[in-house]
Amino acid sequence: MSSYIIEGGKKLEGEVTVSGSKNASLPIIAATILNKGITKLYNIPNIHDTQITLEILKYLGCKIKKSRGKIEINSKNIIKKDIPEHLMNQMRSTVILAGAIIGRFREAKFSYPGGCDIGSRPIDLHLSSFQKLGINIVEDSGFITCKCDKIIGANINLDFPSVGATENIILASIYAEGTTQITNAAMEPEIVDLAKCLNKMGAKIEGAGTNIIKITGIQKLKDISYTVMEDRIEAGTLLCAGAITGGNICLNYKTPEHITPLINKLEEAGCKINIENKKIFMQAPKKLKAVDIKTMPYPGFPTDLQSVLASTLCTAKGTSVIVENIFENRYRYVPELKKMGAKITIEGKTAVIKGTRKLSGAKVKSTDLRGGACLVLAGLVAKGITTVTNIEYILRGYENIDKKLNKLGAKIILKESEN
Ligand code: UD1
Repeated sequence: MSSYIIEGGKKLEGEVTVSGSKNASLPIIAATILNKGITKLYNIPNIHDTQITLEILKYLGCKIKKSRGKIEINSKNIIKKDIPEHLMNQMRSTVILAGAIIGRFREAKFSYPGGCDIGSRPIDLHLSSFQKLGINIVEDSGFITCKCDKIIGANINLDFPSVGATENIILASIYAEGTTQITNAAMEPEIVDLAKCLNKMGAKIEGAGTNIIKITGIQKLKDISYTVMEDRIEAGTLLCAGAITGGNICLNYKTPEHITPLINKLEEAGCKINIENKKIFMQAPKKLKAVDIKTMPYPGFPTDLQSVLASTLCTAKGTSVIVENIFENRYRYVPELKKMGAKITIEGKTAVIKGTRKLSGAKVKSTDLRGGACLVLAGLVAKGITTVTNIEYILRGYENIDKKLNKLGAKIILKESEN
């Protein structure tokens, strides 16, 4: 396992650019399976999770060419309709590929997906939605086989606005007979990006970004080029990195409206934020003030920014209260932050953070993607050296986060594992 060695105490200053969105790239790469031709994608981040998704596409029979920021996917001759267990296990969003494979071939075989251990993360909403579209599902020895003669449009009400389930329904129903309507759909910007990409290919998706999405089945998609949106979670993480160090940073980021809840909380904590010309300028105070947050589906405060804001608040003045409403295991980073001197207590969904004057460098272990990122942030402000181990979790979702932070004045060294 690789590590980051961080020398704390450097104030971040300067300008940094946000990469393409991981969570938009994954369903959009899956969507290319539906196009029986060539799709050119721009702004796909070069991270573990996109690499695994592309590896699965290659296994299926897609031809993939990469050149300077562009990925060209030729899905004409897909020959396989299953996802191998060793690739399926690598991350949870592999489940999205199922919807695309079923959508194109009316059959798919896959095992239960893997991913960060941040909660039970069932896929019951995905599977029951497939069934509503007329797809038969057989589960046997950990494998799920989906099959049907035709996919038939249906009204699907989600018990919870699951991002992945909403994406899977969209992907599975592109070629359906008739119209599919999702109510209580997830409203995340990544869903809007997926719909924009598919509509550019010729799909008929209305209402993405609202809680009712209508998909009218079509016969054929066409070849397109598409630029994936920027990563709002990376943008938020970089702002928190600036805030925790009392820094003064400028983020090149065109869609600040996607992170309004974080911007509001950072302002409440005392940061001065100006948005001009597709840039966010943030000047953090010497000492932040405590704030309270509750994670919610979009447009609420994102669960993916809960941990990074939590570590930012460890050295704030006063007591912050966090309520995590989306995933039950999203406080696994807390014992690690405590090794650095953070004062946090957890009871059920609630974490209470008592601001402490300083954090101290320690050897800490990433527990999951966003939990790992929050330890890096704590390392930026801690006295002395912090070693964050198991950073493979971080590399799943952040493109060059060490280089970006170093460009802003941090001192992070990547120590690659020897095996
Ligand atoms: C996506 C994001 C992830 C983010 C999450 C919530 C991607 C690749 N990942 O994950 O970064 O943290 O949205 O914003 O886009 N649930 C069920 N049954 C299901 C599906 C979900 O009970 O079939 C529950 C989950 O356990 C969880 C909640 O719904 O409690 C939200 O999950 P969901 O929105 O599906 O998250 P993901 O799509 O996995």
